[in-house]
Amino acid sequence: MEKQITIIIGANSAIAKALAQEVIIDQQLIVISRNVDFYEQDIFASARLISLKNYDESEIVSAVNTIKHSSNGVISRVFICHGILHSENCQPEKRLEDFSVQAFNEVITANTITPMLWLKNLVPLLTSKSECKVTVFSARVGSISDNELGGWYSYRTSKAAMNMLLKSAAVELSRRAKNIKLISFHPGTTDTPLSKPFQANVPAGKLFTCDFVAKQLLRIVKNTELDGQASFVDWQGNLIPW
Ligand SMILES: NC(=O)c1ccc[n+]([C@@H]2O[C@H](COP(=O)([O-])OP(=O)(O)OC[C@H]3O[C@@H](n4cnc5c(N)ncnc54)[C@H](OP(=O)(O)O)[C@@H]3O)[C@@H](O)[C@H]2O)c1
Repeated sequence: MEKQITIIIGANSAIAKALAQEVIIDQQLIVISRNVDFYEQDIFASARLISLKNYDESEIVSAVNTIKHSSNGVISRVFICHGILHSENCQPEKRLEDFSVQAFNEVITANTITPMLWLKNLVPLLTSKSECKVTVFSARVGSISDNELGGWYSYRTSKAAMNMLLKSAAVELSRRAKNIKLISFHPGTTDTPLSKPFQANVPAGKLFTCDFVAKQLLRIVKNTELDGQASFVDWQGNLIPW
C-alpha cells in the first residue's frame, strides 16, 4: 500500500498543532505555515515543513509545486485551518456602525479567499483513485439558517461564503474528482488565541482543549463517507444546517 500523507495548512493554529501531534504518530505529515517554529522539535523530525512569506497565490502555487515534486505517497487528508476573528486592525462588529471595508477585506481574505486558493491549487494533486478528505475550518456562526444573534458581520460572512464555495466545489468535484470529500468543520469554542478575548461567558465545560478537538476531528474524518457532497459538521460529528 502507498504511504498515506496528511497535509496541515495554517499549521501555526493552536488546533492545527494538536492535530499534527496526533497525525505524526502514524502518518506522513506535511505542515504549511508562515511560521513553522513549533515543528522544529524532535517528534516532528519526519515531517516536511513548508514555510511561506504570506498567502498570496504565488506563494501557494510554489508550496503546491514543492509538494508535487517531492512527495512520495498518496495524499489522504488535508486540513485547512486558517481563520481570524480579530487582529491588530479589527475586532468583530457589535453593530452596523462598526462595519469597515478594511476589516471586512482582511477577514474575508484570511478566512475565505486563502482556503479557496488552496483548494483550487491542490485539487490536481488530490485527484486519484484513492480517497482524499479535505477539511476546511468553519464556524457555526457561518450558518445562515442558525443566525439568531447577529453581529460579527465580517466573520460570519466569511464563514458563510466559505461554506457556499465548498458546496459549489463539491458539485463540481462529484463530476470530476469523485475521490474527494469536502468537510466544513466547526470545532466548538476552543481555547486558542482566536477565542481568548471571548472566553469569559463560555459556560463551564464548553471551552474545549485543542487536544480534544483534534481527536474528535480525526475520528469524524475517518467515519465520513465519500458521497459527492460537502458536509457542514460540528465537533460531535453532528450536521449543522447551512
Ligand atoms: N477557537 C475557536 O473557538 C474556534 C471556534 C470556531 C471556529 N474556529 C475556527 O478554527 C480555525 C482554527 O482557529 P484557531 O482557534 O486554532 O486559531 P489560531 O490559533 O488563532 O490560528 C489562526 C490561524 O489562522 C491563520 N491566519 C492568521 N492570520 C492569517 C492571515 N492574515 N491570512 C491567512 N491565514 C491567517 C494562521 O495561519 P499561520 O499558520 O500561517 O499562522 C492559523 O492557521 C479557524 O478557521 C477558526 O475560525 C475556531
